Amino acid sequence: MIIDTHAHLYYPELISEIDEILSRAKDSGIERIIVPAVDLTTSETILKLSEKYDMIYCALGIHPCEVKNSDMKSLDEIEKLLGHEKVIAIGETGLDYYWDTSNIDNQKEFFSHQIRLAKAYRLPVIIHTRSSTEDAIKIIKDNYDQNLSGQFHCFSGDKEQLNKVMDLDNFYISFCGNITYKKFNDTDIILSCPESKLLSETDSPFLPPVPYRGKRNEPSYIVNTISKISEIKNTDVERLREKLYSNATNLFFKKI
Ligand code: NI
Repeated sequence: MIIDTHAHLYYPELISEIDEILSRAKDSGIERIIVPAVDLTTSETILKLSEKYDMIYCALGIHPCEVKNSDMKSLDEIEKLLGHEKVIAIGETGLDYYWDTSNIDNQKEFFSHQIRLAKAYRLPVIIHTRSSTEDAIKIIKDNYDQNLSGQFHCFSGDKEQLNKVMDLDNFYISFCGNITYKKFNDTDIILSCPESKLLSETDSPFLPPVPYRGKRNEPSYIVNTISKISEIKNTDVERLREKLYSNATNLFFKKI
């Protein structure tokens, strides 16, 4: 069984054929899909999706790139939704210095607030970083205790940063389809990450693995990314799948 821990199924190019996409996901061995919100509106959309489709679970939160379009009131509104039975994480939150550095303080404030929510509601936090891994790790470490758990999704940090995340109990990382691209040359980071700290994700509709590059991504393509990881790590793909599944279950579905 496979868990896609990160798929934005509400994007127009995916929601327009959601039934076919979920059917292909099941055929590929996917049991559950975590859909992360980017703001209040998508948080509400995801809840409705999760009520309609058994395999969909929700992460609610405000993405760093949406901080400029949101206010603290929207986080209060999101907090009211956290008791829903299919909410299993906070996110995606984090820091993004690639698209916008004009509001870093505001991004940090939203990130810290969502970490506080994660701790208060005992939910793992799904973290987005882009050109910001160092600061994100620092904020997590500053707020770290045994009640905090989470995932650095689409990990793009260096080895030193990887080691800092590996030192945190209950924290995991995941890689996207871009690790299958020819220009990806950081196989060392994948080799350095123990299987016990790895999760599987697609980040659909973004970063489709080869041979789907240039198209929109969908959960069923996750098998290509997992195969690539097993190839790099020179490990049995079935065994790796089982490990990734149990890691995701431990982080997100312990209570379910
Ligand atoms: Ni995402």
